[in-house]
Amino acid sequence: MPSKRALFWAFVSGKGGVGKSMLALHMACVLHLEGRRVLLLDADLGLANLHVLANVDPKGRLERVLGRAESLEQAITTLPCGPHLLAADNGQSLCLLSGSDAAEELAATLGRLHATYDYVLVDTPRGISDAALRFCRACDRTLLVTTAEPTALTNTYAWYKFAMLEDRTLAVSVIANETDDPQLAQRFVALCERSLGLAPAWAGEVPRDPQVAHSVAHQKPLSEATPLAPAWVAIKKLTRDLQRSGKAARDREQSIMPSSRSTDRAR
Ligand SMILES: Nc1ncnc2c1ncn2[C@@H]1O[C@H](COP(=O)(O)OP(=O)(O)OP(=O)(O)O)[C@@H](O)[C@H]1O
Ligand SMILES: [Mg+2]
Repeated sequence: MPSKRALFWAFVSGKGGVGKSMLALHMACVLHLEGRRVLLLDADLGLANLHVLANVDPKGRLERVLGRAESLEQAITTLPCGPHLLAADNGQSLCLLSGSDAAEELAATLGRLHATYDYVLVDTPRGISDAALRFCRACDRTLLVTTAEPTALTNTYAWYKFAMLEDRTLAVSVIANETDDPQLAQRFVALCERSLGLAPAWAGEVPRDPQVAHSVAHQKPLSEATPLAPAWVAIKKLTRDLQRSGKAARDREQSIMPSSRSTDRAR
């Protein structure tokens, strides 16, 4: 049964190029296949490329919705794989999100999505920035994407530390992309606990898979037509696990405190 309030998942990373957009797109496809109403929101302002990955010509752009030049409904494009996309511009300035008017407009726009969608997946800019953190704060769950490369892990740790200094209530889960190292979770979580006294949840791993690079090159997302692609299989499992853990946390908290804001944070 569809929920009355959309769940927002933000995709972030310390290092660029680790697979945020690829994961956001494919997780949106999985949720759509499971009958959920899904919006992909490209908040990688200035470097937006979800429409390129999905091979569509967007009907509108987030910036123009925020600037009230077009309506939310006009701006949304349906992807061939099913989810809706609110694309963004390339070459725009990030200062679009600075200032209280812009923040309020953004909050109002996101608020209007609750009635229409079960999930809103937000692809944010790489690295540590106020813009990325602002989106995370507006979301129920932050998915911190990394690879197993030492440079990526260093930046992932830095991102987590920065986020926790700013807002300890953020519900952060790490996704390790392009790896199937079973020891990585334990090492990273132990490092965070040792150095910071707290650690993110570990969502899981997605293996390196040449079919991903092929799908990007051909602008055609993986799907049930490529069911044996190891990355697709892993992304399906990851998405279902995240849905389940979100539901368990929600049920647990709702039974304690039905209208608490902390309910939102755990999803
Ligand atoms: N599991 C995977 N297996 C093989 N290649 C992958 C995998 N995940 C991502 N890639 C490759 O990495 C590239 C970068 O992925 P993507 O654009 O999703 O990263 P990003 O984090 O969104 O980057 P940016 O920070 O620039 O927004 C993809 O084009 C693809 O070729
Ligand atoms: Mg990206």
